[in-house]
Amino acid sequence: MIVLAFLLTVLLSGAPQADAYQVRKEITFNWIRDSRNVIRNQTAILLQNHGYASDRLQVRTDDGYLLTVYRMQPKKSGLGAVLLHHGIRQSSDMWMFLGPKRSLAYQLYEAGYDVWFSNSRASPESEGHERLDRDSDHYWDFSFHEIGTEDLSAVIDYILAATGRTTLHFVGYSEAGSALLALLSELPEYNKKMASVELIAPPAFMQYGQFSWIARMVEPIRKLFPWSVYYTRDALPTQICTLFRNECCSLFGQMNDNGAGNGTRTQRSPGPSNRPQDGCFDLEDVSLKQLEHYRQIIASGRFQQFNY
Ligand SMILES: *[C@@H]1O[C@H](CO)[C@@H](O)[C@H](O)[C@H]1NC(C)=O
Ligand SMILES: *[C@@H]1O[C@H](CO)[C@@H](O)[C@H](O)[C@H]1NC(C)=O
Repeated sequence: MIVLAFLLTVLLSGAPQADAYQVRKEITFNWIRDSRNVIRNQTAILLQNHGYASDRLQVRTDDGYLLTVYRMQPKKSGLGAVLLHHGIRQSSDMWMFLGPKRSLAYQLYEAGYDVWFSNSRASPESEGHERLDRDSDHYWDFSFHEIGTEDLSAVIDYILAATGRTTLHFVGYSEAGSALLALLSELPEYNKKMASVELIAPPAFMQYGQFSWIARMVEPIRKLFPWSVYYTRDALPTQICTLFRNECCSLFGQMNDNGAGNGTRTQRSPGPSNRPQDGCFDLEDVSLKQLEHYRQIIASGRFQQFNY
């Protein structure tokens, strides 16, 4: 029962994305990849392949995460700065997958915007933490709350300082929307720093989704265990997926692009043999706290802080 409930919890967070995936599959949009398959400057490489030069910069958050930020080398930036931020389990290279003509980033650039891309803490292209190891529990102890209040605030201030501007435009996909809404609520002074905000599929009020009953069903089970059981690196859901690897793979397989070998994916470095196979959703690459936070806002119908 508990096993089932946990699998359902994680499925819950994946299922809406699976629909989006079905659409994107046709253009072989490799939108979710194993973070260990990504070289740290993947965005710069894609930009370069498409004929654009970029600067790769580092922004340190107040709590010590080292975020990677890219800026397309501005040629005519009369129209202001635009910051694009990715969704859960992605990095800034997601903005290039449609290629030179179709990608929003390139259209903005050609129209005369100063285009920037940021990467959340622990995202594949970020550089980790100044003290915490990637395998430590504390490294993954965050949700979209921290991505908003710590990461986006640091990146926004960095860009405004670098460009000498007082405002910027923000475009966020999926979790970036939750993160920005958390930032603008928690630190209202950031509202003044926004020239405009475009949120693509922002998850905030989610109680009417088709899986909300699962989110509510898991509630009593969730309370049986201390929080540490969920978020640590050897958390129960991760252990369950190690034991039931095939089941987890078939559950999450839809979220992966099986044709990724011919896409932007780079060679996977040989890891320990107990890793899930290539093409499987790997719970070790995601903060479980994010998934639980989403489960909570689905169950409660409120856009609220994490409930311990
Ligand atoms: C990406 O990083 C590699 C290794 O550090 C480097 O050789 C390469 O020039 C970089 N590519 C770009 C486009 O920045
Ligand atoms: C990659 O493409 C080649 C030919 O286009 C094909 O034969 C091969 O099966 C593809 N590999 C993957 C992993 O899709």
